[in-house]
Amino acid sequence: MAFFSGLFSFVLFVFLGIIISAEAAVKKYQFDIQVKNISRLCHAKPIVTVNGRHGLKQYRNGWADGPAYITQCPIKTGSSYTYDFNVTGQRGTLWWHAHIHWLRATVYGAIVIMPKPGTPFPFPQPNREEVILFGEWWHNDVEELVKQGNKMGLPPNMSDAHTINGKPGPLFPCSEKHTFAMEVESGKTYLLRIINAALNDELFFAIAGHNMTVVEVDAVYTKPFTTQAILIAPGQTTNVLVRANQALGRYFMASRSFMDVPIPVDNKTATAILQYKGVPNSILPTLPQLPAPNDTAFALGYARKLKSLNSPRFPANVPQKVDRNLFYTIGLGKDSCPTCQNGTRLLASLNNISFVMPETALLQAHYSNLTGVFKADFPDRPPKPFNYTGAPLTANLGTSHGTRLSKIAFNSTVELVLQDTNLLTVESHPFHLHGYNFFVVGTGIGNFDPAKDPANFNLVDPVERNTVGVPTGGWTAIRFTADNPGVWFMHCHLELHTGWGLKMAFVVEDGPGPDQSILPPPKDLPLC
Ligand code: C2O
Repeated sequence: MAFFSGLFSFVLFVFLGIIISAEAAVKKYQFDIQVKNISRLCHAKPIVTVNGRHGLKQYRNGWADGPAYITQCPIKTGSSYTYDFNVTGQRGTLWWHAHIHWLRATVYGAIVIMPKPGTPFPFPQPNREEVILFGEWWHNDVEELVKQGNKMGLPPNMSDAHTINGKPGPLFPCSEKHTFAMEVESGKTYLLRIINAALNDELFFAIAGHNMTVVEVDAVYTKPFTTQAILIAPGQTTNVLVRANQALGRYFMASRSFMDVPIPVDNKTATAILQYKGVPNSILPTLPQLPAPNDTAFALGYARKLKSLNSPRFPANVPQKVDRNLFYTIGLGKDSCPTCQNGTRLLASLNNISFVMPETALLQAHYSNLTGVFKADFPDRPPKPFNYTGAPLTANLGTSHGTRLSKIAFNSTVELVLQDTNLLTVESHPFHLHGYNFFVVGTGIGNFDPAKDPANFNLVDPVERNTVGVPTGGWTAIRFTADNPGVWFMHCHLELHTGWGLKMAFVVEDGPGPDQSILPPPKDLPLC
């Protein structure tokens, strides 16, 4: 990864890392966005090269958050916009990506925020760090695929390859030379900063012969635990320690989808190489064991092992009481609108509302009290309770469309239960909330039971993160304190589902204090 400070301009394919050291200073990075030709899997194609933001808590400053039509209008060809933000209190691995349609297929990168000088990691200092970014590659133009996906209501073609640091690895055609390799020295310890930037795939990842110790997710320290494989959803990051303690050799690192649905499974394996220093390239690497693509038990077990570090220096401040209880059902369904291919188009909804993108950015509308852009009437629970995870419900349940937001009082504590449903099919959904981290206080299979399940919530050391998987046919409960005023998007981080409407936004009201309201918008904010 490149380290750079001062004014820097670049054009590149795929990822570019930003490393932020904690000395208070203004760092400037310039991203130029261009179309360039790239060759992968025996084909050349033009792709959009490099912009966006994600995962950083933009305190009172949604203007630098990035999702198109939520906090800003898109940056038009030939114009520019400066994302001006402070890094306050956060450190760890995050990432940035384009946030419109499927543009992040090629426009994404790492953000690494170093701890403050004198604040060491809460684990032994590694000898070296490496960023590992997962992505996907299509032969076809991704904007065409998304149009097709939204129009036909069918999943567009699966990607043609998964990638590790932009490279698919030798199991794909013409990809021998497109293989990422990391050299290690025997006896040393490495910190891998792993990011899943894939569009539609949750991924398992493992390294042949080597265990990993998970120490951080979504830029928050966890209680360390050792595992053979990790599971990481689009939007998430995971830091692991790896000790080079095996026989000198070459070992494959590999990623493959977790997809426990009854539709064709995407089981392509992307590989990269962990190579001990001095070992010749002629040695054939061995492949790691990865959980099966539909290994739900592994996924649940893994989720349960994730806990906040919750040490005196890094406490978990879990809200103990709840001011506002929310319950949202996640549904896939058929569109009932008359122009939607006679009700055959697929759509996705929260509480049976499929989100409609506005034509003016919501943050602007909220900040300047524009009416007619959105309604702040998103329901706190579904219109009619039903047996959410019972036999597949293929009936049209009258899903409605709307730009409806939920208004949250400043500083209130919110509990949100996300319930997967069997409308058409159950499926695992990685949900991402902008503007906040949240605590994952509980998760389970089947229907959430408000009378029983809260008694088992972990209110001591639940994992704190910004993207969480809602299990297939199950539920996840999160808590957060709404102390960041603004308009904050929440969406499934599988782009296909986001495109179908599996998203909504919260309006968190200003607080009464002098530093508790949304900052004024920057002068160069793109307008629609
Ligand atoms: Cu990774 Cu809405 O973003």
